[in-house]
Amino acid sequence: MQINVAPFENSFAAEINGLDIQRGINKRQFEIIHEAFLDYKVLIFRDQPLDDKAHQTFGMLFGELDGHINKSTRHKVLPSVQIFSNVKANGETTGVHPEKGTQVWHTDKSYTATPSLTTILRSPEIARVGGDTLFADMTRAYDKLSDDMKKTIEGLFAVHDWARSREKSNERAATPEEIKAAPPVEHPVVRTHPETGKKSLYIGNHSSHITNMDLATGEAILASLEKHATQSALIYRHKWQIDDVLMWDNRCTMHCVEPYDAAKEKRSVHRVVVKGDRPF
Ligand SMILES: [Fe+2]
Repeated sequence: MQINVAPFENSFAAEINGLDIQRGINKRQFEIIHEAFLDYKVLIFRDQPLDDKAHQTFGMLFGELDGHINKSTRHKVLPSVQIFSNVKANGETTGVHPEKGTQVWHTDKSYTATPSLTTILRSPEIARVGGDTLFADMTRAYDKLSDDMKKTIEGLFAVHDWARSREKSNERAATPEEIKAAPPVEHPVVRTHPETGKKSLYIGNHSSHITNMDLATGEAILASLEKHATQSALIYRHKWQIDDVLMWDNRCTMHCVEPYDAAKEKRSVHRVVVKGDRPF
């Protein structure tokens, strides 16, 4: 099969065709994927009916896999695979969204010291209405800031806090065990991509406030940056098909899931996350 990279028009996403991830990826194919990943930030592989083992193997090509702080979503045999699903074993819906924190703009695991490099999702079951995943290009968002705003945020650090993030997304409170595992961390508001050298905004729901600034002012700056970054011109909207594999660069994008009716729609995504570097 011939591998083909097909970027979407006026977007930072591209479809990669001509691969069978279940069968395995060779070195040359990996190099093409990696180059496209740095060029486009969000990659889509259609018609990839993977099993969880192959999903995990694909993720390991990109680095060390990371688990999730929320143990309830862990795969029973492969703990690096997480399952976000509202479908019970008997095929009925649970009626509740598996993780409301995914519905607000965020970048994965920014509440840790070494947040996710990439997240790789696959979609065995998709909602008929709603459930799209939206992405914001945070490099373009930074580039489009006014010079004044760039100056205002230069050198600032934000506190990223799992417990506060849960409160803001109306999820169940973080447990004492989770708070111990993920105490608040600081990251630069503008981070430099370790591979491309480009600057991106690094914010989202896990960021709570700005270090050495009064709470309200810091929150207002973060809210204003998020509003700027999520304007429609900077967004890619992914409409899921069964057996899509979707991967994105958490170092220069934010994402969120469009709400769907969890009582009516069945939706299951399986997720593998690759650990990244400490942002600088
Ligand atoms: Fe996420």
